[in-house]
Amino acid sequence: MAHAASPCTDPVALNLWHPIGATAEVEAGRVHTTQLLGEAVSYTLDDDGQPVAWRADPALRHGMPVEAAQISDRLPAIDRFCHLWTSYGEPPDRLFSIPEFDEPDRRILAAGSIGVHTSAPRAVENFLDMGHFPYVHTGILGIEPHTEVVEYDVEITDDNEVLATRCQFFQPMAALAATTGQMTDYIYRVPHPYVAMLYKTAPPDPSRLDAIAIFVQSVTEEQIVAHNFLCMVDQTSTDSDLKTFQQKIFGQDKPILENQVPRRLPIAPWAETPIRADKSSIMYRRWLADLGIAYGVIPEAA
Ligand SMILES: [Fe+2]
Repeated sequence: MAHAASPCTDPVALNLWHPIGATAEVEAGRVHTTQLLGEAVSYTLDDDGQPVAWRADPALRHGMPVEAAQISDRLPAIDRFCHLWTSYGEPPDRLFSIPEFDEPDRRILAAGSIGVHTSAPRAVENFLDMGHFPYVHTGILGIEPHTEVVEYDVEITDDNEVLATRCQFFQPMAALAATTGQMTDYIYRVPHPYVAMLYKTAPPDPSRLDAIAIFVQSVTEEQIVAHNFLCMVDQTSTDSDLKTFQQKIFGQDKPILENQVPRRLPIAPWAETPIRADKSSIMYRRWLADLGIAYGVIPEAA
């Protein structure tokens, strides 16, 4: 087995788009450097605001002027959903879609990038799990004795995404704009092996759904940066309020994720036989196996 920090050799992971940073935090013309799939990658915005990414020369210092950087080995780069994305291989023409991103009255923001010592699939799986709300997000996303995960549907869509619908959970304070407890409706989506999204009842307008995503950057197989992304209906909270709320929630998940062993996600059907009602987790693991992904998982044929 390769060391967790060795460069990735999994062709499926190499050919994906990967998030590497929030666009608003990139200073045009300065070299930013991060780790992706066990290798250093540099990025910036050019004079036209277009993203540029390349394999980092280890001798280059973070923050140096881009003119001083020897940019060879350029990588594909796109700016989408308030983040920069790159790939070491041949990524799809398009990233997955988030239709809410184009609704003019949405609050759209990058809500913080948080490093966690876990694998990307562990972070996605945790994001899909409602069962932990009363215990990990006590008093905010759940509260005892309201611990039941009611029956929901999960499928692989025609677009080859994992989709869980008819999800419901009791929340004492479902969002920043909420004032009382309520049964909250959820939809979960996994449109990319390392991206999870949830849609939930928007307290200011219960006919609409807030959309919340984590774009997970695989620093190594067992180290990630989770980039939080929000498309909210809420028109009154400040950006700072929304970010603080999201970071508080994710900060509660971080120690839980870091205590999970093994850090990579076992995807063999007999592994970690689930005892909870986590159908979406089973579907996600199967879907990863069908995609043939090897990075961040303990594969089926181990
Ligand atoms: Fe959580």
